[in-house]
Amino acid sequence: MSKLYGLVGYPVGHSLSPIMHNDAFQRLKINSYYHAFHIEPNQFSKAVEGLKALGVSGFNVTIPYKVDIMPLLDEVDSLAQAIGAVNTVVNDNGRYIGYNTDGQGYVASLVQALENDSLENKRILIIGAGGAAKAIFYTLAVHSQKPVEISICNRTVEKAELLIKHCPTHVPSFALSVQEAEEQLERFDVVINTTSVGMSPNIEETPLNLDLLKPGALVSDIIYNPFETKLLASAKAKGAQTHNGIGMFVLQGALAFEKWTGMFPNQQAMEAIVRDSLKKG
Ligand code: ATR
Repeated sequence: MSKLYGLVGYPVGHSLSPIMHNDAFQRLKINSYYHAFHIEPNQFSKAVEGLKALGVSGFNVTIPYKVDIMPLLDEVDSLAQAIGAVNTVVNDNGRYIGYNTDGQGYVASLVQALENDSLENKRILIIGAGGAAKAIFYTLAVHSQKPVEISICNRTVEKAELLIKHCPTHVPSFALSVQEAEEQLERFDVVINTTSVGMSPNIEETPLNLDLLKPGALVSDIIYNPFETKLLASAKAKGAQTHNGIGMFVLQGALAFEKWTGMFPNQQAMEAIVRDSLKKG
């Protein structure tokens, strides 16, 4: 029997998840379909009850529902609980279990970008202290290649302090203002932007001045529209290695797909279809 998967969010019209997952189902000859459900906020819990009653096999959750979904599930795994957000739900024999593959998708993509290098011995600076920063910070903090330092800079420093305070495991971390981060930039091997600063249409904005960037550093941005944000362009101009958010998007999807089907899809094919769709606009 054909299985149904999906995405719940508001809005979902521009999501590339359906095209990416449906292509992977076809390639692997899996008789399943992925549909994006645009759900109005006042209908959210009813809609989730409906999906459960229909017995859908799994679904992704996007903005603004990654937190609201949690009490509606039968179980939430420990990393998703620490992050405080769920982006992937699996129907396990009628029990709906929540996971977070955003942080894992990002970190797997970062590890690929580091090639033969390791996260261990790296000093990492995360820019931003919102939901995406939390998923990436906590996933890095529990990673087997634990970095030497993971510091956070944010426009609102108190939010960076709270993230550090509630981290599930100890990693040396400092909460920095943007100015402090710019002054201390030479210390960091990896700089990760998790804010929306620089995202289309505000492509002239940049979250941090990279004047003091360490030679050989890697600068990463979770944004993938544009492919190269102003932050990445200025990092490249300084000779730094750069890494954008396409890999995170593809791998969070691939990890969800694996949880649903037990099969890991072709990452290159997924990335190609996402790149093509972005080019077409
Ligand atoms: P997400 O879930 O995508 O991470 P979020 O939880 O709203 O979104 O967090 C947005 C992050 O981007 C925050 O760190 C926010 O800074 P504040 O905590 O000070 O609000 C940061 N951010 C958003 N717009 C920004 C801007 N124009 N300048 C600097 N930081 C910005």
